[in-house]
Amino acid sequence: MILAIETSCDECSAAVVAPSQDLTNSVDVFSNIIFSQIELHKPFGGVVPEVASRNHLEMVNLVVEEALQKAGITFKDLTAIAVTNRPGLIGALLVGVSAAKTLAYSLKIPLIAVNHLHGHLLSPFISKQKNSPAITKANLPMLICLVSGGHTCLYLLNSLPSEKIDLQCLAKSRDDAAGEAFDKSAKLMGLPYPGGRHIDENAQKGNPKAFTFPRPLQNELDFSFSGLKTAVSNKLTQLGFKPHIFGDQNFEELPSGKTLHDLCASVQVAIVDSLMNRIHKVIESHNPKSVAIVGGVSANSLFRSRLQSEIKLPVLIPDLQYCTDNAAMIGAAATFQMQRNEILSDNELLTLNAFSTSEISK
Ligand code: KG4
Ligand code: ZN
Repeated sequence: MILAIETSCDECSAAVVAPSQDLTNSVDVFSNIIFSQIELHKPFGGVVPEVASRNHLEMVNLVVEEALQKAGITFKDLTAIAVTNRPGLIGALLVGVSAAKTLAYSLKIPLIAVNHLHGHLLSPFISKQKNSPAITKANLPMLICLVSGGHTCLYLLNSLPSEKIDLQCLAKSRDDAAGEAFDKSAKLMGLPYPGGRHIDENAQKGNPKAFTFPRPLQNELDFSFSGLKTAVSNKLTQLGFKPHIFGDQNFEELPSGKTLHDLCASVQVAIVDSLMNRIHKVIESHNPKSVAIVGGVSANSLFRSRLQSEIKLPVLIPDLQYCTDNAAMIGAAATFQMQRNEILSDNELLTLNAFSTSEISK
């Protein structure tokens, strides 16, 4: 059993996982405890790194205890500790890394350092998910669309993760990430942080054709989302509203009702169109055998339904609890690293560091 800890941003999470008994390349989750700091950061309209680190310090022992309790085990049953050490907010990462080092050293068990992005990418390999059936060699190469608050990338996964990680990056965002585009557009409309979920909810009642927002670089594989916030801001002004900026709380100047619903639906379809356009292109050009979406934006209901209706290949969509940040996906990536013998040596155990940025291949 592996205890995994995730503190890279504003979710403090601990999970207990183990290789699946019945299937190779599949991981069973026994507990996945997530304490979200969203309420703490809401008044500031975004994550405040120092507030995040301090709260991780208060919560990390509690989420670890709860994860063990829910899994019905004690520290003695653990065979390894896994922790996200890159990329993320440096102070936030350090809290998880320090807690993990302490546990591994005192329990005399291996420590596994996990790249947060590998966690997202391998989340479809968690067992018993509604829209992620067992994955075999027949599903390779797999096109994985990683869409979160900090990343928008298309990868081809050419190997099963218990053997090696063979990832080819095909495209990425040249500026803002898709999640950032959701959050910044939502903020301009006066919706709470993080705005992706609020745009999704309001869009359900809106007309996606009411307004036209840009879908840049249509003839390329790379993405660009930074122009969307200017387009949203201009549209709000044109409609007689005052784009919401931090501290400006005059709600009478912000859109509501049908206009808000239409704006949300139109922004959402612009982002999802950009994502689907690239997915269709890569299916044509690279002939993948399956398609997965991972990361916080894969929780978006329009993106999930369009993937299922438009793609004729097997599609893998993680359960909602595995889309946004969680320790179970870190445990899954660590399980495969352990199977590949990628654990830290005794020396590295105490010198392991945290890094704010990282190459996906490392
Ligand atoms: O993967 P994640 O939890 O954290 C990062 O590693 O960045 O992703 C967070 C992002 C935020 O931008 C959030 O607004 C977005 O995922 N998100 C959504 C939805 N739920 C979360 N975006 C669109 N629709 C959603 N339902
Ligand atoms: Zn993430």
